[in-house]
Amino acid sequence: MSVLTVDVALGERSYPIWIGAGLIDDAGTWRAALRGRHALIVTDEHVAPFYLARVRAGLASLAHATLVLPAGEATKTLDSTSRVFDALAALGASRDGTIIALGGGVVGDLAGFAASCWMRGIDFVQMPTTLLAMVDSSVGGKTGVNVDAGKNLVGAFHQPRAVVADTSTLATLPQREYAAGLAEIVKYGAIGDADFFDWLEANVDALNAHDADALAEAIAFSCRYKAGVVARDERETGERALLNFGHTFGHAFEAERGYGELLHGEAVAIGMTLAAMLSTRMGRAPAADAERLSRLLTRFGLPIAPPPADADALLARMRLDKKNIGGRLRLVLWRGIGQAEIAADIDEHEVRAVLGRSHAGPMRGLG
Ligand SMILES: NC(=O)c1ccc[n+]([C@@H]2O[C@H](COP(=O)([O-])OP(=O)(O)OC[C@H]3O[C@@H](n4cnc5c(N)ncnc54)[C@H](O)[C@@H]3O)[C@@H](O)[C@H]2O)c1
Repeated sequence: MSVLTVDVALGERSYPIWIGAGLIDDAGTWRAALRGRHALIVTDEHVAPFYLARVRAGLASLAHATLVLPAGEATKTLDSTSRVFDALAALGASRDGTIIALGGGVVGDLAGFAASCWMRGIDFVQMPTTLLAMVDSSVGGKTGVNVDAGKNLVGAFHQPRAVVADTSTLATLPQREYAAGLAEIVKYGAIGDADFFDWLEANVDALNAHDADALAEAIAFSCRYKAGVVARDERETGERALLNFGHTFGHAFEAERGYGELLHGEAVAIGMTLAAMLSTRMGRAPAADAERLSRLLTRFGLPIAPPPADADALLARMRLDKKNIGGRLRLVLWRGIGQAEIAADIDEHEVRAVLGRSHAGPMRGLG
């Protein structure tokens, strides 16, 4: 089995990301990342039937327990975090315990947050099973849960000990979730690497067909890219904000339409399209690049036209974004493919024009 390794360089908190088909069964690779005497596997009810027994087999003699939570965003709560604490207590896990997060971004964010809190911080290992989690949420150490006031408002920076990305788990992932992960992969090319963007254009068919080599290469590139950004700006004081390309628009649509209608990656695809359109309108970037971006997203089966939503309400949500300073809108825009930048000189009339124009066109997956 071939395993690609990407290192996240954060001094003594550095860790490897292993990428390969069948890695879950290859405990020889990942078992060394578990330092303690106890392990708790946190997973969800969709993932458990496929993969839980195989991870357990790799733990063999280690004292361990499992916690299977309901699947979906509604699980990412403080109540679920308490359930993780209860399971750790029942297991007798002290500071030498490790949490294994087996699942998508929901399980990873929640289990990572619980690990950051238990006994003021214990080890955790990410075993992402969605494409989005492999290329984005499992890398970089952002953990957290949702509260009534909003998504991801309670959390911590807590880096995993290792990330074990078994690409063969993607075979059971629903197609729509797979495409949502591709949106984040496109994002890395769009914001920082025109050559990778070209590569994606040339490999659409292979990626749509789940070709193992193309997939491993795309995941490895994405992890390498994100790892580089995180190593330079772990706490998002600068460059890391560029990873939010398309997200300010996307979050506004996700919230305005009600969570659950658009997948996060779908909202990001729409958001990137709008950010590129806005960049063109503001004279910052060529129209041809915006067209290439929408074409690529469309070929991956992603939506680019947003559902109808009230422009005032969308703008109100966008003004709440963490990147804004002094009430003025700041957005990640681009100069063209591979050249994202923070733009502070945003004219809200232009944003409205883009939001208005975007209503035409079909919206896949929406009734
Ligand atoms: N921490 C970060 O930096 C970061 C970055 C991006 C997103 N996120 C968070 O990630 C979450 C979204 O993650 P997600 O898209 O992975 O969603 P998810 O965890 O809800 O998984 C999507 C669905 O796929 C199912 N599933 C997972 N793996 C499967 C498999 N191999 N086979 C069959 N079904 C499978 C899940 O049970 C779920 O129903 C959001 O909460 C978001 O806030 C965090």
